[in-house]
Amino acid sequence: MRNLQVVLASRPQGPVTEKNFRLVESAIPSPNQGQVLVRNLYLSLDPYMRMRMNDGKSYAPPVQLGEVMIGGTIGEVIESKDPRFSKGDVVGGRAGWQLFATADASTLRKVDTRGAPLSTALGVVGMPGVTAWYGLLGIGAPRPGETVVVSAASGAVGSVVGQIARLKGCRAVGIAGGAVKCGYVVSELGFDACVDYKSETFATRLREATPDGIDIYFENVGGRVLDTVLPLLNAFARIPFCGYVSEYDNSASHGVQHLRSLLVSRARLQGFIISEHLDIWDEALAELSDWLVAGKLRYHETISHGLESAPAAFIGMLKGQNLGKQLVKLG
Ligand SMILES: NC(=O)c1ccc[n+]([C@@H]2O[C@H](COP(=O)([O-])OP(=O)(O)OC[C@H]3O[C@@H](n4cnc5c(N)ncnc54)[C@H](OP(=O)(O)O)[C@@H]3O)[C@@H](O)[C@H]2O)c1
Repeated sequence: MRNLQVVLASRPQGPVTEKNFRLVESAIPSPNQGQVLVRNLYLSLDPYMRMRMNDGKSYAPPVQLGEVMIGGTIGEVIESKDPRFSKGDVVGGRAGWQLFATADASTLRKVDTRGAPLSTALGVVGMPGVTAWYGLLGIGAPRPGETVVVSAASGAVGSVVGQIARLKGCRAVGIAGGAVKCGYVVSELGFDACVDYKSETFATRLREATPDGIDIYFENVGGRVLDTVLPLLNAFARIPFCGYVSEYDNSASHGVQHLRSLLVSRARLQGFIISEHLDIWDEALAELSDWLVAGKLRYHETISHGLESAPAAFIGMLKGQNLGKQLVKLG
């Protein structure tokens, strides 16, 4: 058996294309003392990976040319040279876009999905779920009766944000691209309303869906959507600033027009990176798991099959072709 890897072949000049990736074959590595060899079962595809393909200032270093693309994974331990793990353990880690990887045992965690499918450990009870939990509860601090608006509402993070908002007694309003996604957000996820940002009547519909204004805006996309939300903010609104996906794959910046609304509403905007808040992960995962087991959290996954499908699935996700969490099934 050989290893298969997807490496960064070139940096995108404009939107990412499949030519920016290369599939390479290599030998399966052997673990050193303190390491394990993992066979990856699922790879998570996330918007932040697009930023790591650029060589510029960011909160994390870029992937170098020729390096394996980074990414969260769920895998099975094939060989262990560390007492904390045994052959057959299922572990979460950051093994990247490849079939096999060695990893320091200290970078892995055993996966306990309490009967939920393994893949959920990369979604609703994984990094995106924790991001929603921390951003909404830790930064947004919702109070019953408040209105919470979230963009990319049908996606991995946004879908959890709105459902937690409902659990906390808030009015949850989603923003998503197209009627199908908006229908899913309301009928399957239980949001109070969802507005299509691609519609010509977006601004009017959003105002109608938020008759009492907006107390929390969970920001996932930025650009024109952010600009439409800003004038609707209530006094002392909170904005957990989670992502800006509208400009990750697009060098043209929208240029926000309504920044003054932050002053007028005395709003608090707080950016955050969830990997810098490891202290809350256990608590967040435990609560998300409880909600999932109790049937209070719903989720959807879009799964592509085989490592070779990862570049196209990644590009599709950046264009909004995913519903819910985008994964690649490897094993
Ligand atoms: N701060 C952190 O630590 C952290 C952690 C995880 C994720 N994030 C951020 O959270 C956001 C959501 O991530 P996710 O994993 O849940 O992804 P996701 O929502 O599952 O997928 C990305 C979605 O972005 C939307 N989108 C793409 N281009 C857009 C545009 N021009 N305008 C508006 N929406 C657009 C698409 O949905 P539509 O079809 O609705 O357009 C697409 O489905 C991203 O910005 C990501 O970087 C941040």
